[in-house]
Amino acid sequence: MADLINLTIDGRHVQAAPGTLLINAAKQLGIEIPAFCYYDGYTLQAACRMCLVEVEKTPKLQVGCTTPVAEGMVVHTDSEVVHQARKGMVELLLTNHPLDCPVCDKGGECELQDMTFRYGLGESRFTEEKYHVDEKEWSPVVFYDKPRCILCYRCVRVCNEGMGVGALGVNNRGVRSEIEPNGFDHLNCDECGMCIDICPVGALTSGAYRYKTRPWEMQHVGTICTHCSNGCKTTLGVRNGEIIRGNNRDRSGINGEFLCIKGRYAFDFSHHPERLQSPLVRKKNGKLEPVAWSEALEVVGKKFQEVRGRNGKFGVIGSNHTSNEENYLLQKFARQVLGTNNIDHHRTGDLATLLDALSGKADALATTADLYDRKAFLIIGADLAQQHPFLSFQIRASYRHHNAHIYTIAEGPVREDAYSVKTVTQAPAGAEPLESLRDSLKNEPELVILFGDSIKGDAVRKLVAFGDSLGIPVKYVCLVDYSNSRGAFDMGLLPDLGPGCHAVESAGLAYDQILAAADLDALWVVGANPLKRSDLASKNAFVVVHDMFLTETAQRADVVFPAASAYEKNGTVTNVCGEVQRLKPASKFMGAKPDLEIIGLLAKEMGADVGIWLADKVFEEIRKTVRGYNVALPIVQSGGAAQTVPVNGRVAAASRPDLIQSARDTLFTSGSLGRYSKALNSVKEAPGALFQARSET
Ligand code: SF4
Ligand code: SF4
Ligand code: SF4
Ligand code: FES
Repeated sequence: MADLINLTIDGRHVQAAPGTLLINAAKQLGIEIPAFCYYDGYTLQAACRMCLVEVEKTPKLQVGCTTPVAEGMVVHTDSEVVHQARKGMVELLLTNHPLDCPVCDKGGECELQDMTFRYGLGESRFTEEKYHVDEKEWSPVVFYDKPRCILCYRCVRVCNEGMGVGALGVNNRGVRSEIEPNGFDHLNCDECGMCIDICPVGALTSGAYRYKTRPWEMQHVGTICTHCSNGCKTTLGVRNGEIIRGNNRDRSGINGEFLCIKGRYAFDFSHHPERLQSPLVRKKNGKLEPVAWSEALEVVGKKFQEVRGRNGKFGVIGSNHTSNEENYLLQKFARQVLGTNNIDHHRTGDLATLLDALSGKADALATTADLYDRKAFLIIGADLAQQHPFLSFQIRASYRHHNAHIYTIAEGPVREDAYSVKTVTQAPAGAEPLESLRDSLKNEPELVILFGDSIKGDAVRKLVAFGDSLGIPVKYVCLVDYSNSRGAFDMGLLPDLGPGCHAVESAGLAYDQILAAADLDALWVVGANPLKRSDLASKNAFVVVHDMFLTETAQRADVVFPAASAYEKNGTVTNVCGEVQRLKPASKFMGAKPDLEIIGLLAKEMGADVGIWLADKVFEEIRKTVRGYNVALPIVQSGGAAQTVPVNGRVAAASRPDLIQSARDTLFTSGSLGRYSKALNSVKEAPGALFQARSET
């Protein structure tokens, strides 16, 4: 490491690496240099001049966000002349700014408001009429108010560099300069809202949140996004039990402040008017009718007992969205109380074969941090920007900051092609595309391979053999679809593997076999919608469904339990990279119960002992009994991401590659949840995307 540089800031000695900017060297001492245009991780702009500091032996004030440290430098950030400069900058920025803080969404969280309190004058010398431009609706979720804009270009840079979209630019000059979207009067983009979040003032506002409340009127609950498998932390703003806003401005999770449109806006399904509020039981008239919880539980308890008593055939289908605790308790109930291994879930990636092929190799599964830190990536058969937005964001940041090399193999164009060193446009299965990259890949210092659902069964083994043959350290990510797809696998929602990949004594029926069994007596579906795409062969099967909505499967049910959403419960979920994170209840929905409680109540109804059905207690049991889950509790409890260490030995089960199929959700779809998100369906990019979705889980 190069020698550190010694300098003095406000009379205090500090050492910093060569190239460190003054703004960051000051931060090391806990000294804040005010800044509007500077934003960590993005290119330097030097547009606002708010960060001016005094450097001894230089004739003029220097720009703290672009000046690197130098040996012996003496810097003053708090002198009279610096204060005067800041006052001048704030006065200039306010020339046309409306100062409508009492009605502005940003009021209370606004960087300009803070600086005006600190450096603003009592009155302005600019008394001319302000230059006004009407507010513009760029999309249902992004609005632009030009008079509030201080032209810091943060939005332009986050969209271009962070998102790789480049939907924003600047039009006109001088006082008439304004930010303009790529469609001139509308946006055509990812609709992620990252530009809104990064805007230091209230120039960009969210269509979902604007004018609804003030920030101090909300409680802020940190939980995990319930949509894709990337596991972004989202801080939900809640007022009177209703979620009003999603963001992660405190950068407290693995995703920093990143959220895609689903994490930021698609929480609204949780208050959709079609949510079920009461259990439903099919009555003699053939109709599903609302009943009390006690009645519904009694009907199911009696039926399950009757089927069990005559050694009848059960089928249990679990979910990719329910928590680890719920999945664990569901399989425990199925195996111990119902006495069946006929349990499965919609499988979206071949993790079983990957773990088996990697047996004996330590440290071969990549974390989300690896996707930023590592030097080379091979992405096979996945459109990350659409299907795994946060992973795509991480890899783009690694490319920008570390010059990472990116290779892609996909049937069609993907966003990563724009900055990849090699792109193979071809169906990903088979050895050919890999061989064409061999020479380049083996010259990389290290590699992370991410692969989608087209690589399954033997193709996974061949991929690992190819990785081994490169002679460099290789890590893998098996891309799965949903917020707890990984947890469904780890908790043993499989006919042949119990929790932690322990093989069961006698394998049960798999997903397709359960649906095709003409003699099935009872089907229990928890948080899934298998009948959206398949028929149920057994016409006489007694069907029990837990769901938030009357889905296609719920419509066929004999009993429906109204289930709580992931934003209404305690528990944990495991993301695509095997990181366990905690769900915290943000809102309430009258009438619904978490699946964990419904399973527990059913056990009680049947006089069965499945342990205490509190999420913390079940997680304690998971930590003790599920291989790889003995994670540090304080990390999970404090809202961090704890890495699970999956099996390091053979996985004694064939993966049934024919059952593995990603739903190919896009940025604007999310299985059955997406249907009920008004925000998601409101953007113009959505309908085409909806058309592409292959199935729902
Ligand atoms: S919403 Fe996202 S993609 Fe669209 S302009 Fe803003 S930052 Fe860019
Ligand atoms: S809209 Fe916001 S982020 Fe973009 S330039 Fe204006 S003030 Fe900066
Ligand atoms: S990337 Fe996935 S987990 Fe993150 S906010 Fe988007 S949908 Fe949610
Ligand atoms: S923060 Fe330095 S010029 Fe804007």
